[in-house]
Amino acid sequence: MLCHSSEELMAFVKEARSAAKEGKVAEYIPALAKANPNSLSIAIFYPDGKCISAGDIDKKMTLQSISKVISLALVLMDRGEKEVFSRVGMEPTGDPFHSIGKLETMSPAKPLNPMINAGALVVTHLLKGKSVEDRLQPLLSFIREMAGDNRIDYSEEVALSEYQSSFLNRALAYFLRQHGVIQEDVEELIDLYTKQCAIEMNCLELARIGMVFAMDGLDPMRGKQLMPPKVARICKTFMVTCGMYNASGEFAIKVGIPAKSGVSGGIMGAVPNTFGIGIFGPALNEKGNSAAGTKLLELLSKTYRLSMF
Ligand code: DON
Repeated sequence: MLCHSSEELMAFVKEARSAAKEGKVAEYIPALAKANPNSLSIAIFYPDGKCISAGDIDKKMTLQSISKVISLALVLMDRGEKEVFSRVGMEPTGDPFHSIGKLETMSPAKPLNPMINAGALVVTHLLKGKSVEDRLQPLLSFIREMAGDNRIDYSEEVALSEYQSSFLNRALAYFLRQHGVIQEDVEELIDLYTKQCAIEMNCLELARIGMVFAMDGLDPMRGKQLMPPKVARICKTFMVTCGMYNASGEFAIKVGIPAKSGVSGGIMGAVPNTFGIGIFGPALNEKGNSAAGTKLLELLSKTYRLSMF
């Protein structure tokens, strides 16, 4: 049994919206603090092109950490598993996404996984090209193709706001550079990383990207394989083990869907071989995941038995 209509979805949005009260909009990136904490939207994109949606679906979100899964897919395609995993690990941390603690205990100083900020900085470092713009363009093209919209771009306001306030990410990057895990100029890397995180779209486009991951990299509507199935499977595995940070275990039990969150309040879900989900609800819970978005996924998973476990 699957959710079939936007009306059905709207009932879940109404129920989940109250959970936003328990959350707070991210403030450490000043531009994100402007979001309306009570906003909530969801879209479900099916492989046959059908899309149902509910809530404030015209609202745009920046991808933030959701971009980490997509840059990982691109870098895996460009450089191969061996090179990527020689620099970043495959294990969950149980620590918050910006934690610096475990890095210092690792020898060599290899971040534990590509979903925490330290690991994501290593992945972004591996994007090929000479200039920041050269390296960003292939990522944007890949995202536009998966989302089915050529107009997708990054928000200059959010990118600049994060660039001007990324002291912790700079600290992580300098640590990684000191230990030879990355070799480039830290300011350039932060410039590229903040633009990557500021790529902006609505929940429908996010759901379409989730659908491509759900279909193991295939865009069934165009009959195009956008990434090898193996790459899509690696990404989905990280979504299960680390996609919701130190709430990933609880999320796997209560929801059981590969998903990735971002501090903007976005969540991308990929129900294997079934559909993609895009959610935007900016109020975050204490683990940095959308409070109403998480509630919405719990309700959907329970009602339609979406858990893969
Ligand atoms: O690097 C950062 O802190 C942000 N650009 C992304 C972090 C994020 O989205 C964590 N997600 N819950």
